[in-house]
Amino acid sequence: MAGETANEVFICESDAVAEGGRGVRFPVLAFGDAATGFVVRYDGKPHAYLNRCAHVPIELDWAEGEFFESSGLYLMCATHGAIYVPDSGLCAGGPCKGGRLRPIAVRELDDKIYWQPDEFIRPPQAK
Ligand code: FES
Repeated sequence: MAGETANEVFICESDAVAEGGRGVRFPVLAFGDAATGFVVRYDGKPHAYLNRCAHVPIELDWAEGEFFESSGLYLMCATHGAIYVPDSGLCAGGPCKGGRLRPIAVRELDDKIYWQPDEFIRPPQAK
């Protein structure tokens, strides 16, 4: 596992996340609660966020892994339609305009995507 650092957590193979296509969800412990993160690909790069809308703290995807709206330019919350810029997580329209998604650091290495825990978002087994 050359180059992989000890605390990185494997999410999926790179080809599981196509540009503007379905995202991949992964379990996390966020601020002490069981939650999910997700990774999508935009502008060639993986971007990951906590799957929690900035409006009401519920999951965004309208069907499992479906985060992009039809143009493929924005992530959209299924509940009230807030749209988020995929590479910054900034809410560009909707009830939480000016808010943002909580980013999760990700890295793509050797055709695999990993996420990096931080102080508040941990792997689920880390209590
Ligand atoms: S819960 Fe996401 S826009 Fe309201």
